[in-house]
Amino acid sequence: MKQTSRQARKRIWPAAINPTEVERKQSEHKRALAWLPAPTVRKTSTEFRITRSETTTMMRSHYCGQLNESLEGQEITLCGWVHRRRDHGGVIFLDIRDRDGLAQVVFDPDRAETFAAADRVRSEYVVKVTGKVRLRPAGAGNANMASGMIEVLGYELEVLNEAETPPFPLNEFSDVGEETRLRYRFIDLRRPEMLEKLRLRSRMTTSIRRFLDENGFLDVETPILTRATPEGARDYLVPSRTHAGSFFALPQSPQLFKQLLMVAGFDRYYQIAKCFRDEDLRADRQPEFTQIDIETSFMNEAEIMGLTEEMIRNLFKEVLGLEFGEFPHMTWEEAMRRFGSDKPDLRNPLELVDVADQLKDVEFKVFSGPANDPKCRIAALRVPGGASMPRKQIDDYTKFVGIYGARGLAYIKVNERAKGVEGLQSPIVKNIPEANLNVILDRVGAVDGDIVFFGADKAKIVSEALGALRIKVGNDLNLLTCEWAPMWVVDFPMFEENADGSFSALHHPFTAPKCSPQELEANPATALSRAYDMVLNGTELGGGSIRIHRKEMQQAVFRLLGINEAEQEEKFGFLLDALKYGAPPHGGLAFGLDRLVMLMTGAQSIREVIAFPKTQSAACVMTQAPGVVDNKALSELHIRLREQPKAE
Ligand code: AMO
Ligand code: AMP
Repeated sequence: MKQTSRQARKRIWPAAINPTEVERKQSEHKRALAWLPAPTVRKTSTEFRITRSETTTMMRSHYCGQLNESLEGQEITLCGWVHRRRDHGGVIFLDIRDRDGLAQVVFDPDRAETFAAADRVRSEYVVKVTGKVRLRPAGAGNANMASGMIEVLGYELEVLNEAETPPFPLNEFSDVGEETRLRYRFIDLRRPEMLEKLRLRSRMTTSIRRFLDENGFLDVETPILTRATPEGARDYLVPSRTHAGSFFALPQSPQLFKQLLMVAGFDRYYQIAKCFRDEDLRADRQPEFTQIDIETSFMNEAEIMGLTEEMIRNLFKEVLGLEFGEFPHMTWEEAMRRFGSDKPDLRNPLELVDVADQLKDVEFKVFSGPANDPKCRIAALRVPGGASMPRKQIDDYTKFVGIYGARGLAYIKVNERAKGVEGLQSPIVKNIPEANLNVILDRVGAVDGDIVFFGADKAKIVSEALGALRIKVGNDLNLLTCEWAPMWVVDFPMFEENADGSFSALHHPFTAPKCSPQELEANPATALSRAYDMVLNGTELGGGSIRIHRKEMQQAVFRLLGINEAEQEEKFGFLLDALKYGAPPHGGLAFGLDRLVMLMTGAQSIREVIAFPKTQSAACVMTQAPGVVDNKALSELHIRLREQPKAE
């Protein structure tokens, strides 16, 4: 399966659209635009510098963070917010803040009117200040400020707007609840940490757009008012006024539209696309989030993984200055077996080890039952140095695995292996023959001072419970071995079997299997798909697949998912039609942009990297959305509420 991404990359640029051709087109394009007037804002490599135009007078001459010793003696004008005001015995200091940083402005009583104005301003007033840059006196410099070696002697001060006392001080926000921060997000976003995260986000999308543009991708927008796109979550629905009783669905992803663009011959598509999913929220999920959505034609999975891996590697290099090597590939089966997860965190050295074969004949039913059931699993997790763990900690971990349905957490503390069973401390060793115990302890590599945990149950429960415990223990005991661990998970099963024996698609129903339609229908439970996920530090960053491009195969998958012909026609008739009219082999993937920004900024939640996120209960506390709608609007939409909400 693994073709190296370097091999894949070599073949990424089709010979027909070589870079020289692109350069020629670009210079033609530049010539065509040459008549446009030169912009007054000139971009330098790292920042925008404001220039004075001859015809317009500009509000400001510099951003605060741009001031430095080279401007000594120059008159400048700043616009921004009063960050701090200090009265130092007859001299007033204002720290002015704007998008680029802070600058200290000094007002002395020599200019009485300006001094009086400076005396009146308060925190968060919006002001325009004109003054002269001068070096700070020796010893008064501030190394934490970009402009810390200079200050501005204020000549003029204009209050552009006043401000009430903010609901929370910008520099002492730590005690402020998230709800208050979100209610006043426009103030919360003034904090430099928040600005920096969104600035990094913007640099990331710029880097991604540039990379995709240079690789021949077209940015195409797809509809927001559309039909349901099955990605496994509930839809957000929008009632139609013009079609009584009918609803649009907001897209869970642009999946089908991007496939149709491939049928249309666009070859390489991307979009930084808003997606909507009405699902239970967690730290890394929002009801409205952004994908970097990609689709290509005539590329196989190795080529697509190679190209997108290069995009991510390039992104880390450009934005964080980090160089990654090639990402390892791991099959889904191996990931589940060794890490109990389809998104393993490879920074964590702990691994699950299967031991059911040693427990088939033991008296202890908790183990012998699952050991003899093919749908079950018994796995062991060795924690180096864990034997000193107090009982309370083990009880807490037992409660923790209970969240995932585990009915207990057996353990063995290895105090002194040389003493045999005597050297082990455990509620279960009495139930297991010593020979089997030794095989198990050898297999997990247990040495004196370790603790080994055990899970025995349905395979899904054991993998999820011990997989989660692995992460928790790794974090609690500080076991992580490196900072970044990107990887690919491949060879996913096509379907997940539900409790009632029916099947659900593990990715989505448009993912191609690795076999023929006949083989798929004969053995759906064991069929593998041509899907791949990129995982970073235990987070699923993105997922994609080679798609089905033949109608016969698509219909076989629909049948296996219990979608009958009438429903296929009703919901996906347009896709089945498109597959009849020359659909090329195609595939792609989508990255979760918010998750990527969260990881790259070290934020704890994706809400921290979205300008205006929703709360955990999928509401916007600032705009009070979702809101109540009046009866007139409802009746235009042909909607009658079952229960009228009470007036506030
Ligand atoms: P998938 O459903 O795996 O695939 O989504 C792709 C990526 O989007 C991110 N993501 C989310 N981020 C924040 N909040 C959410 N609620 C949320 N849900 C998903 C994840 C995920 O890896 N159409 C397919 C892609 C394809 O096959 O090309 C799709 O949407 O990082
Ligand atoms: P019991 O005999 O129920 O007291 O259990 C003995 C030990 O086995 C305790 O440490 C339990 O936490 C543990 N245990 C019980 N059920 C399971 C299970 N399904 N998987 C792993 N350990 C279990």
